Amino acid sequence: MEKKLEKMKQQVIECTKCELSQTRNNSVAGKGNFKADVIFVGEAPGKNEDLKGEPFIGIAGKKLSIALESAGITREEVYITNIVKCRPPKNRVPTPIERETCQNYLKKEIEIIEPKIICILGNTAFSSLLDGKEITKFRGKVVSKNNQLYFLTVHPAATIYNQKLISVLKKDMKKLFRVIKELKDKKKIKIDIEYTS
Ligand code: URA
Ligand code: SF4
Repeated sequence: MEKKLEKMKQQVIECTKCELSQTRNNSVAGKGNFKADVIFVGEAPGKNEDLKGEPFIGIAGKKLSIALESAGITREEVYITNIVKCRPPKNRVPTPIERETCQNYLKKEIEIIEPKIICILGNTAFSSLLDGKEITKFRGKVVSKNNQLYFLTVHPAATIYNQKLISVLKKDMKKLFRVIKELKDKKKIKIDIEYTS
């Protein structure tokens, strides 16, 4: 399993499938525990991530760590990745074509790790994975689609200048790990939104 993730990571490092490869310093594959119960999916690497080749290591990453800690979870226990693996110039939102071109890497990560639930961080991941919009309206909810569970919350970067949103993110992390505990205990969980395809 770890081998497959390493192979995927190497492919990401070498990837030139979309034009973001021309402006990046480093591509950024996901990082974390390959036995994780949950995969966190953000938008795209930012400046610090691009320089180091690691996801969520800047201020947004710090906010994510703080929210996880408040739920008693460390980053070593989870797996963290993004919709696209290379930084868009000036941190613009990745285009539909870039997202589509990059999507097989995320699919691979999900296939290998088989998370109990995928935590969507913000609107880019929400629209890419569930065709959703307005995450602030739907945050805190559990979604089921094609036999995969998702949990919706705000992007950690949105909490940087908004103190209210950091409490929201912390509250959501507590709920997420409560749901994960219930799943592990084979309890029936409450699904808020069921997608039919
Ligand atoms: N924002 C993201 O969406 N992903 C990162 O890795 C860092 C900041
Ligand atoms: Fe390849 Fe994705 Fe980077 Fe585009 S963003 S070059 S598809 S790894």
